[in-house]
Amino acid sequence: MRSVNLRLLISIVALLALALAACADEPDEPEAPDEVDEVDEDEPVDDLGLAQEGVIVVGSDIDFPPFEFIEDGEIQGFDVDLMEEIAARLGLEVEWVDTGFDALISQLAADEFDALIAAMTITEERAETIAFSDPYFEATQALVVGPDSDITGVGDLAGMSVGAQDGTTGEAYAEENFTDSTITSFPSYPAAFGALEADQIDAVLADLPAAAEQEARSDLVVTEVIDTDEVYGIGVQQDNEALLAAINDTLAEIIADGTYADIYSTWFEGDVPPRFAD
Ligand code: ARG
Repeated sequence: MRSVNLRLLISIVALLALALAACADEPDEPEAPDEVDEVDEDEPVDDLGLAQEGVIVVGSDIDFPPFEFIEDGEIQGFDVDLMEEIAARLGLEVEWVDTGFDALISQLAADEFDALIAAMTITEERAETIAFSDPYFEATQALVVGPDSDITGVGDLAGMSVGAQDGTTGEAYAEENFTDSTITSFPSYPAAFGALEADQIDAVLADLPAAAEQEARSDLVVTEVIDTDEVYGIGVQQDNEALLAAINDTLAEIIADGTYADIYSTWFEGDVPPRFAD
């Protein structure tokens, strides 16, 4: 009796073990698909480290056509359109803060805004203080002179005075390379171009797109293009990885779906550089 019971018990235990093993082997119940995490234009993204929900405060030096400037009482330009598009796709409103170019980086680092866009060239030195998005524009420098100038290029700059905006790559390039010239810094590029028009200086070194815009708006002339191989980036605070990733992802989308090309052709002639073409 006893032995039969024991055998029965062993059988039951064995069966149970088998059943358990079968259970464990059974494929998992198919799970309901995860909610797709799509960016909804109307839903503010709230994990981007923004001070104010639904708003991205963006610093710029809004005096650099055709990237950012005020005309007819309205802030406009290539950077403005691009930033507004990025923000809209993240469900955010842009609140613009206008400040001096030279102050942008320290003010962003001091949390006075969430991001900056200012036709700002990505440089190693700047990237020590703030983080830059992927490049969104390619630029070079250009030398601008008056209509009757004898200066035909950088070879004629000895003894001349050259203007640039404070804190820019143009100013740095001039100081480094035009060592026989006097470099004068201005708070804005329009101020530098104004001084050139008033014959107070002999030339201005500025980013080519801004120099070309100035040529179109006045009788100043672009006399030489200097290939400095610069790219612009959007700046964010160094520890705000979420915002940086959101900006980069959205920028890539804007390039891929041709919106970049649309914005580009609003402000510039010619082909969209290959890296920004869809
Ligand atoms: N790309 C140049 C730089 O980063 C000039 C930018 C000037 N931008 C402006 N908004 N004033 O230094």
